[in-house]
Amino acid sequence: MLVFLAAFCLSNKIKAQQVIPIYRNEKVSIEKRIENALELMTLEEKVGLCHAQSKFSSRGVPRLGIPELNMSDGPHGIRAEMQWDKWENASWTSDSCTAFPSLNCLAASWNSSLAYEYGKAIGEEARYRNKSVLLGPGVNIYRTPLNGRNFEYMGEDPRLASEMAVPYIKGVQTNGVAACLKHYIANNQETLRSSINVEMSDRAMHEIYLPAFKAAVLQGGAMAVMGAYNKFRGEFCNENSFLLNKILKKDWNFHGVVISDWNGVHSTLGAAMGGVDIEMGTEGVKDYSEYYLANPFLKKIQSGAIDMKVVNDKTRRILKTIFLTSMNRSKPFGIFGGEEHTNLSRKIAEQGIVLLKNHQNILPLQLNKIKTIAVIGDNGTRNQLIGGGSSELKAKYEISPLQGLINRLSPKVNVLYAKGYSLKVEEQSQLKKEAIELAANADVIIFVGGLNKELGQDCESIDRQNMKLPYGQDELINELLMVNKKIVVVLVSGNAVEMPWINDVPALLQSWYPGMEGGMAIAHILCGDVNPSGKLPFTFPKTLSDTPPNFFGITAYPGNGTDVIYKEDIYVGYRWYDTKKIDPLFPFGYGLSYTTFEFGKAMLNKATIKKGEAITIKIPVKNKGKLKGEEVVQVYISQINPTEDRPSKELKTFKKLLINSGEIRDAVLTLYSKDFEYYSNKSKGWKLESGKYSISIGNSSKNITEVLNVNVN
Ligand code: GLC
Repeated sequence: MLVFLAAFCLSNKIKAQQVIPIYRNEKVSIEKRIENALELMTLEEKVGLCHAQSKFSSRGVPRLGIPELNMSDGPHGIRAEMQWDKWENASWTSDSCTAFPSLNCLAASWNSSLAYEYGKAIGEEARYRNKSVLLGPGVNIYRTPLNGRNFEYMGEDPRLASEMAVPYIKGVQTNGVAACLKHYIANNQETLRSSINVEMSDRAMHEIYLPAFKAAVLQGGAMAVMGAYNKFRGEFCNENSFLLNKILKKDWNFHGVVISDWNGVHSTLGAAMGGVDIEMGTEGVKDYSEYYLANPFLKKIQSGAIDMKVVNDKTRRILKTIFLTSMNRSKPFGIFGGEEHTNLSRKIAEQGIVLLKNHQNILPLQLNKIKTIAVIGDNGTRNQLIGGGSSELKAKYEISPLQGLINRLSPKVNVLYAKGYSLKVEEQSQLKKEAIELAANADVIIFVGGLNKELGQDCESIDRQNMKLPYGQDELINELLMVNKKIVVVLVSGNAVEMPWINDVPALLQSWYPGMEGGMAIAHILCGDVNPSGKLPFTFPKTLSDTPPNFFGITAYPGNGTDVIYKEDIYVGYRWYDTKKIDPLFPFGYGLSYTTFEFGKAMLNKATIKKGEAITIKIPVKNKGKLKGEEVVQVYISQINPTEDRPSKELKTFKKLLINSGEIRDAVLTLYSKDFEYYSNKSKGWKLESGKYSISIGNSSKNITEVLNVNVN
């Protein structure tokens, strides 16, 4: 009997092993599985992988049991389920997500380990919602304060954007979900985004606009990249062989998949040969068979106009993505909502909010002396998770700044509210009158203003027309100041704004779009439960005319209708303001704390660095105040007497330290020889020039506490 049983089991095991086809066998290398599936697939099935089958999914191979790729926006949370084939919500009742803060809030935290936690958590939510591709993060560089989507990106500096995007991507992908890095490349404006052609120098491309994408692919292992809407040097990004086949797939050895932005593909040959692998969102077609990479692609392959190797390469990349995500049996099951995620959302907001002004330490609020607080402003109650375009979210809840203050302070403190301003002009005078009356008798005013996710503000598809606060906020702030000087301005926004009232306002907090727990984060900082530690990820210029693109006129931004020329070249953000000696309103890397920090003498482990070597810098930082706090030590380099022009300084590394009151902690940082290189337009390549360099250490791009000299040879 036993013998029979053993034989029976053995034969079943053999049968089972024989029956599992190679492409399904996770014990076999992924390359072998791909080749096996490729052999088994028909040409129609291969072409079927290369385009959408619904608004947010692309096909698998049903006959072989190879699952489809379900995709979802966005960078700040998992978007509500959309209808299979319409730009409308599916009105599910089980898809209210955790809404995390905007990515420029994460960037403002300068906290790479927090970026990993953010990515892991949002990946858990994508996984739980059975999404195999998360359409984020966006890492487009902040070139103009008018760009409608800057709130989704990570600021003006490629090194900061790289250091925050890499861990975010790794976190997402631990869940068996592909992060889809976007928008590759140079989608730095929304105005005319789907047609404008971007022109820039090789140097600007290599030093400013590629680095965050390169780091995300090479260090972050991003499994997917989204081609941008715009053209680059005359070719649509999704049909741009230079960007996709040469730089991304060849130079960077990228074996993942290129997914077009929705409706970003415009021709079969361009898409087939240019390098996009999955065509999404094409409009003006009767059904999916009419997509450029559907029947028209099939016909060109059958006629020999396009070689089989083209469709096989796309198929290999798509199969690899499927095998690592939707067909990956060992991936975790994800988490959707729950306290851990909402606490993390609040923590990211608390780490990213920037204290920009705190005159006479009006903050944190002296609660024992305050009976009545007047919260004034439409952004005090506005829902900031809906709108803004594809990053919009249906969250479990959203705590507004007003609600956060009520939760934190009521009933001990009387928290009153007046809308103060409105999007509707006809309401404004009455609202202003009410606000001023309320303000006159309050112990302190918390003005909550800024921008919002309306079209024309911080929103996809068009840019802002100017850098001013909208809806008469400037006038309202001035009139409030006339009745009460104790005013704290909290800006809920994703972009820099002009601040004509800044000299008269004693305190200013930049709170970004702080996510579903944003009101609590703002309240915790205003009340001193949390010591602010955010630093600006982009410069706040005084006026729009100070910004680089505006200096060069309309061809530099928003372009002449067909081309936009990046005339400022590498001089983006602080690289521009520092080098041109233009004083910003608030500099890149700037942010205050409720305590004070003192940088001690920096120590270098060597005074000369050779190619391939590294330098270690140790900087003692003392917390001289009564509160524990976090400081960001920033290290910039500059070359003395360069043969080709270089910015006056460039961020190369940074470290955020938590330091208790009275404590000294060392920031230990490393500079590599490649950090001293620049991309030479003359020799068309990266160059490490011998000579003297300075290493500037500080806690903002303008507040440099020490400059050290090193030699490179
Ligand atoms: C949008 C955006 C892109 C988004 C996609 C899907 O137009 O540009 O970021 O992921 O379409 O919604």
